[in-house]
Amino acid sequence: MGLGECLVGEAEKALVLQALERGQLFRYYGVGAGEPPAMVSTLEREFAGHVGSKFALAVTSGTAALEVALGALGIGPGDEVIVPVWSWISCFTAVVRMGARPVLAESDDSLNLDPAEIARLRTPRTKAVLVVHYQGVPADLDAILAAVHGTGVAVIEDCAESAGATYRGRAIGSIGAIGTFSFQARKIITSGEGGLVTTSDPRLYERTVRMSDVGQYRAFHEKLSPAAGQVFSGSNFRMGELAGAVALAQLRRLPALKLRLRAMRQRLMDGIQDLPGIRFRRIPDPAGDLGFETYLFLPSARHAARLREELAALGVNCTQHTGTYCHYARAYCQTGAAHAPGASPFAGLAPWPAPGYREQDFPRTRSLVERMVALPLGALYTEADVDHVAASLRAVWPGLEMETVGARLAGSASNP
Ligand SMILES: Cc1ncc(COP(=O)(O)O)c(C=O)c1O
Repeated sequence: MGLGECLVGEAEKALVLQALERGQLFRYYGVGAGEPPAMVSTLEREFAGHVGSKFALAVTSGTAALEVALGALGIGPGDEVIVPVWSWISCFTAVVRMGARPVLAESDDSLNLDPAEIARLRTPRTKAVLVVHYQGVPADLDAILAAVHGTGVAVIEDCAESAGATYRGRAIGSIGAIGTFSFQARKIITSGEGGLVTTSDPRLYERTVRMSDVGQYRAFHEKLSPAAGQVFSGSNFRMGELAGAVALAQLRRLPALKLRLRAMRQRLMDGIQDLPGIRFRRIPDPAGDLGFETYLFLPSARHAARLREELAALGVNCTQHTGTYCHYARAYCQTGAAHAPGASPFAGLAPWPAPGYREQDFPRTRSLVERMVALPLGALYTEADVDHVAASLRAVWPGLEMETVGARLAGSASNP
């Protein structure tokens, strides 16, 4: 179960009931004076306040949020977007759906985009960098913003897996040009399906609304920020009131959830960080991550597989939770196909898969993800559960013979 999904209860029920009793399930058909009903608009207002961005627009999914963000930035055929090779399916497919080309980048030992990749991959066609804050840990945004400074390349923050996290005191989703969130069932907070876009730029806000509401910009949005841009053909990614009610109740749970996760993670770290040779995922700003998964890097894929197996035997489930794979391993990347033959942004890159889309092009990321193990923390984990994870790791650790491997790693700069 997802973190927020475990917590669904009275607060969600109460707001869903309120929405049903209003009898207005479409966000823009309000009950009085042209006002929309409360749920989606309240979610947007509170979410913007939470993130510290001027605007928030709720949509139907995190994937929709990505397409809306790309469209708002005017990204389409002929354009390129830098995307970490280790990221969720939609981070690649949303770019292809918009007709642009995803250009794949290596991740570093934070399991997020390596900022040095931006200079290596940027071309005159690069319009954006899609920064994916992977599983609760914000990417190194200072270095990423420095790498795009003065280039005109926009930073899109994909916060789908890290709602509530901060980077150097600011909420993620408020630092790049535009942020995207997902409320799918396995995310930090959920409405089953759902998503949201944040920005502080009124021009981008207008375009996100038009992207998500078949090109329209209604009176509700006019009041928040007067229209100044062009009408264009958008899609329909509007969130309904029932999803809005659940997402709103979940948003209100987020601060307490984050506090709890961070406290449990600290307890886990206190129990394991002295283990000889242990290597953790690098967290660029340890004050702001969510802490629901604790990643270790082992010396080899074989060590990682063995550790997973031995922990599973003790009841610690540390299989990979996110369903994330390197894009080159997935069929959509291997075919390079779009929904229509002429729509693929990879036409002209023959033979396919071209360099930049093959396993051998990403040795650093491949090595990291093969050697990692994620220790889990659930929203309902008790102190005893956390202590069990720590004790289990301590119990199996000596069998991995990390002392000898650790000494070998200490001399190797290429390992985290
Ligand atoms: C990083 C990332 N981006 C985008 C998405 C897409 O969100 P959704 O499933 O709501 O479309 C997800 C999750 O599935 C994700 O993990």
